[in-house]
Amino acid sequence: MSLDRKLYEGKAKILYTTDDSEILLTHFKDDATAFNAQKRGTIAGKGEINNAISRHLFELLEAKGIPTHFIDCPAPNQMRVRRVQIIPLEVVVRNIAAGSLCQQTGIALGTALNPPLVEFYYKNDALGDPLLTRDRLLLLQLATPYQMEELQASARAINEILKVFFNQCGITLVDFKLEFGFDRDRKLILADEISPDTCRLWDQSETDPNQRVMDKDRFRRDLGSVETAYQKVLQRVLSQNA
Ligand code: TMP
Repeated sequence: MSLDRKLYEGKAKILYTTDDSEILLTHFKDDATAFNAQKRGTIAGKGEINNAISRHLFELLEAKGIPTHFIDCPAPNQMRVRRVQIIPLEVVVRNIAAGSLCQQTGIALGTALNPPLVEFYYKNDALGDPLLTRDRLLLLQLATPYQMEELQASARAINEILKVFFNQCGITLVDFKLEFGFDRDRKLILADEISPDTCRLWDQSETDPNQRVMDKDRFRRDLGSVETAYQKVLQRVLSQNA
């Protein structure tokens, strides 16, 4: 641990190098941002909750044959991960229309999307993470056509696994964001985190459109009870894994 050095600090996590050049240590922070960091705050206990939820989802996905960067959790807010070369893309999967899709297309909130929509956003804060067309993605050489197909297929497979799992938790997986990287052998690896920060999750036992929100939209939209909602997601995830 004495050799650990800060490699990168993001909005919700800090990455440290370790004495093994192939392994990084992720520290999950309680800090929360929205709207490209124009809104800032903290969500008490978020680091530990998101670390624990991500851990369970990565373990679930690994068990179903999806390669992830997850190794283990040496502390409640820390995850050891395999070092990968992150692709600067946010791969968003949408099962139900919400958020920017509704704002940009006028599709009504809650509209079921069959088949689910897979979208690519350019992970670039200075540019505001813009939505990419296929041609722009290829123009920017963010992936080859084959890798783009691979990303899309992997995102769809992950969605099918997570949708079923969250459904068993009494939670509807509305949409979520994934990040991928390449390992040394150029193999595609799921990276980053999967948590209420990066998913829209609706409580199936609530009908009220605000009450049902169990994710970062509570922070983005000042709906209150953010910590409670995150804790509830963790409890349901853990009870399914018990
Ligand atoms: P959007 O509707 O704002 O485009 O968000 C789609 C999904 O992606 C939603 O589950 C939240 C997640 N997301 C992130 O994880 N990080 C981001 O920076 C943004 C904009 C969305």
